[in-house]
Amino acid sequence: MKAMNVQALGKMKRAGQKIAMVTAYDQLFAGLADEAGIDVILVGDSLGMVVQGRPTTLGVTLDEMIYHTRCVMARPRRCLVVGDLPFGSYQASVEQAVDSACRMMAEAGCGAVKLEGGEEFADRVAGIAAAGAPVMGHVGLTPQSIHKFGGYKLQGRNAASAREIARGARALQDAGAFSVVLEKVHAQVAARISGALEIPSIGIGSGPLCDGQVLVLHDLLGLFEEFQPRFVKRYARLAGEIREALSTYATEIRGGIFPGPEHSYGFGGGAAADAGADTEPPAGEIENEGSPAG
Ligand code: KIV
Repeated sequence: MKAMNVQALGKMKRAGQKIAMVTAYDQLFAGLADEAGIDVILVGDSLGMVVQGRPTTLGVTLDEMIYHTRCVMARPRRCLVVGDLPFGSYQASVEQAVDSACRMMAEAGCGAVKLEGGEEFADRVAGIAAAGAPVMGHVGLTPQSIHKFGGYKLQGRNAASAREIARGARALQDAGAFSVVLEKVHAQVAARISGALEIPSIGIGSGPLCDGQVLVLHDLLGLFEEFQPRFVKRYARLAGEIREALSTYATEIRGGIFPGPEHSYGFGGGAAADAGADTEPPAGEIENEGSPAG
């Protein structure tokens, strides 16, 4: 399969093909998403909530975002990887935005960056794009401004709000963004904006008529259980499965069931398992079977 890039995403929009995007924060889940045929991985600052356990995304630092994006980039990826610029890394000035984007691209090795905000941040997008880094915009509900919104509320519910979101998306496109996330925008407003833009829109909680969709990985896999917004569909319930597996593991240790002979060396696991293991192995001859723990 061909590697994904920002030009390919534009072609997908023009061909009417939907774009599948998901967040990931480490190489293991990124690898699974890539193998599953996901088009875009966003290393989102949502990791502040689902990985770091913070109440909002606001405390995540640029160094932390670069670290997680580098983890995602540890293996070659088919999909496009977008590194999110966190709160405080681009708001101060165009220069700060360009510096942060260049650090993200150079130190993490991703293919694009994302930042939040509409018209008021179009100059940051223009600066970053001029420096050669593809930029994804993000309008509607922008979680870095959660204290301004006063909650995770639906956006575009009245004409003024709908107009502001549409103006923001257009300004980002004109500034050189290759795509724009529409978060928790009234579905009809999101549909109109998507139809008017030349660049692909990626919706989250913004209805089915965006050019693509994104969800937070931990939400869609049922790993994050603290709350479930209406727009999240859970495709698995991994938190329950993981709890059950770990609880069985603890019970088996306590009951002397694990490790059994088949997981032991020289402890009656049958001829094959015991081959060469029924005496103390001489020092220096203990084999490493390739477990991550060595
Ligand atoms: O940080 C994030 O995960 C995001 C997506 C929800 C779009 O910005």
